[in-house]
Amino acid sequence: MLFLSAYLYSKGITDIAGVVFLLIALMSSYGPVSALANLGTTLQSTIAASGRVLDIIEEPPETDEITGKQDVLFSGAECENVTFRYGGDTVLDDFSMKYPDNKIVGVIGRSGSGKSTLLKLLMRFWKASGVL
Ligand SMILES: Nc1ncnc2c1ncn2[C@@H]1O[C@H](COP(=O)(O)OP(=O)(O)OP(=O)(O)O)[C@@H](O)[C@H]1O
Ligand SMILES: [Mg+2]
Repeated sequence: MLFLSAYLYSKGITDIAGVVFLLIALMSSYGPVSALANLGTTLQSTIAASGRVLDIIEEPPETDEITGKQDVLFSGAECENVTFRYGGDTVLDDFSMKYPDNKIVGVIGRSGSGKSTLLKLLMRFWKASGVL
């Protein structure tokens, strides 16, 4: 466009206003043209990401939703012979414990021993073998 505007100016086809107009058009078209050039890459990653989001939405729930029942009044909780693994190593192995009502119970163990996992199982985030 620079050469074209210089050529047109030298031939007297355009005046200096036409050259300035072409230069402004050249500079202002850079952003949209570069965005258009990157559209393919952006679109590919957007489609891949939306595919993953849809996979998560369509994932069947691990535990069944219980609806239309009476409110549960807490009267203590208990787990008996609970065994759980995320896939690889066993996190909880034949674990049993009682959590009486109106008592503060501390769950103590080294990092990675399964304390959070136990609470998630009590909240039915996952299904475990044994009685909860
Ligand atoms: N969602 C998950 N998928 C796979 N493995 C997991 C998952 N969550 C926890 N784990 C693994 O299970 C084990 C127990 O983790 P958990 O978070 O229950 O331990 P924790 O006792 O709460 O540890 P911390 O004291 O650090 O909070 C760890 O080895 C951890 O890497
Ligand atoms: Mg934890």
